[in-house]
Amino acid sequence: MTRSKKIFVGNYKGGVGKTTSIYQIALHMVESGKRVLLIDLDPQCSLSEICLSRLKMNLQDLQPNESLNYVYDMWYEVKQFPNLHVQIDKKTLIKQTDDGVHFIPSNMFYPNGGLDDLATKLRDDFYDLLPLQQFFQSSQIEGDFDYILFDCPPSNNMITQGAFLLSDYYLIPTIIQTMSVRGVVHYVRTVESIYATKCEQGNHSTVAKLLFGAKPELLGVFETLKKRGVNNDTVMNELHADLEKSKVKSKLSTATEEKFLFDTIIYNYENIARLTADGLKCSEYVELTNEILVCMGDKPIRKYAVLGD
Ligand SMILES: Nc1ncnc2c1ncn2[C@@H]1O[C@H](COP(=O)(O)OP(=O)(O)OP(=O)(O)O)[C@@H](O)[C@H]1O
Ligand SMILES: [Mg+2]
Repeated sequence: MTRSKKIFVGNYKGGVGKTTSIYQIALHMVESGKRVLLIDLDPQCSLSEICLSRLKMNLQDLQPNESLNYVYDMWYEVKQFPNLHVQIDKKTLIKQTDDGVHFIPSNMFYPNGGLDDLATKLRDDFYDLLPLQQFFQSSQIEGDFDYILFDCPPSNNMITQGAFLLSDYYLIPTIIQTMSVRGVVHYVRTVESIYATKCEQGNHSTVAKLLFGAKPELLGVFETLKKRGVNNDTVMNELHADLEKSKVKSKLSTATEEKFLFDTIIYNYENIARLTADGLKCSEYVELTNEILVCMGDKPIRKYAVLGD
């Protein structure tokens, strides 16, 4: 079975374009022939609403076993009966848009609570980091997709931690403004310490490492929502210096150069917001998707043939 590459997209800063970017990156990956699954870890369900709109559906139309909430709810229920094995049907859980993007929605209207409520039922111990990992293992979902992308809320709980540990890579979108970039190093430190405490130290680190695999690698940081005509070079340099000083490692770095930021900048265009809300593709994300694919050692999207070429 081939394994999917699992990518976690996060930043504790809200409104930096995480959801917009992950949706656009998925659309471009799909267009280049990749099999892509989006998983919405955000109790606010923005990504789910975008994807469902492509099916002319909304959150209220979902049955209980058609959202990620079901995975955590079942985990909690079944925990009381250690010998009971319950198989969740991945076909019911995974939906597909007309563009070919697969997704597992989260649902704030789920009868036993949104993902935030369900996260509070999980205990802060090794075992309760496992619901998603166990679902992946039992459903063999990784044989079905080239990439699995997690859209994260701007917060940290047992659900996001379990998804981070399961990931191979992570991406950080950020606005390049003083208040926003300060959060980037903090974010890297926080997520890296999750791996260190669960998989390198602690009572169950040996089994945790076996189940979750190697430490997720930072692919890189990318700039979003840049305003035309605003020069933010100073802040950009500060961010670079902070990351270097903190000895952050990025897959973009080479033997001779520390590099943390992707070359592509996503500008603040009303059109990007509008098209994404309707689930439509924005060409602004083609190059960023290419850079991300290449950074993982994969082939970039085919260049479209232009008449006269
Ligand atoms: N490049 C862009 N140009 C213009 N508007 C954008 C752009 N990217 C995102 N937006 C808009 O900015 C807002 C925040 O974007 P988005 O929801 O993607 O951020 P987020 O980081 O996922 O937020 P949250 O932390 O709440 O999950 C949305 O209204 C979105 O439509
Ligand atoms: Mg979001």
